[in-house]
Amino acid sequence: MMSERGGSHHLSERRASVFPGRRKAAVQHLKRVATLDNSAVAQAYARWAPVYDLAFSETMRPGRKVAAAIANRHKGALVLDVGVGTGLELPMFAPSCRVVGIDLSEPMLRRAARRTATGALHHVAGLSAMDACNLAFADATFDVIVAPYVLTVLPRPEASLDEWVRVLKPGGEIVLVNHIGATSGPVAWVEAKLAERSAALGWRPEFPWRILGDWLAGHPDLRLIERRALPPFGIFTLVRITKR
Ligand SMILES: C[S@@+](CC[C@H](N)C(=O)[O-])C[C@H]1O[C@@H](n2cnc3c(N)ncnc32)[C@H](O)[C@@H]1O
Repeated sequence: MMSERGGSHHLSERRASVFPGRRKAAVQHLKRVATLDNSAVAQAYARWAPVYDLAFSETMRPGRKVAAAIANRHKGALVLDVGVGTGLELPMFAPSCRVVGIDLSEPMLRRAARRTATGALHHVAGLSAMDACNLAFADATFDVIVAPYVLTVLPRPEASLDEWVRVLKPGGEIVLVNHIGATSGPVAWVEAKLAERSAALGWRPEFPWRILGDWLAGHPDLRLIERRALPPFGIFTLVRITKR
């Protein structure tokens, strides 16, 4: 996050120096944008945990269903669910899968564990507190990695993606669902305003495709196999990446 944010800041400042009138406003905006780090994210999700399902169960269900359905195509797959949260997607996986969920937030994980027990979700092989960019798994362990609504939450998205590629088997798939930020217009303006509250919200409303695009460009071992807008209203984007 820091390096990505730093990169984006440099770009904005470079543009601002070409248009000097915009420099002051750009610098002021950058100073206001709150920084995400693991402790801010953990604090935010400790606050979200009791109300998370109420707030996000329905609106974000389509993306979870699509991500789980894609994982379910890999019969008998070992699936890593990064940022499993309260486990809303866990009942959507096929019984033939084995799913390991990890999350930074203990309060969110406790709810996932409760859901697993009450729903008798026997395909859930484990739930652990872990940082998405420092996984305690061997190289090439998983057939599929799903991360619904997680990438925009991570302080270091590129480092986290690198780590997911490490634990993914060749031929395996990474399935992401995220809001990709608007590049211009009123939505971009609203996202920029909301970004000032990133640390309190626990996610970044501004998440340009450039972050993923640049990261993919640096990985000849990966291939983008699908990118499409999802309901509701195309707010979220499905991204599928395979490892050669
Ligand atoms: C928006 S929630 C998504 C939860 C779930 N996938 C869903 O669809 O509802 C994002 C989750 O990512 C977790 N998270 C944030 N940073 C993380 C990190 N560095 N490592 C692991 N999990 C993280 C948060 O604790 C939170 O549970």
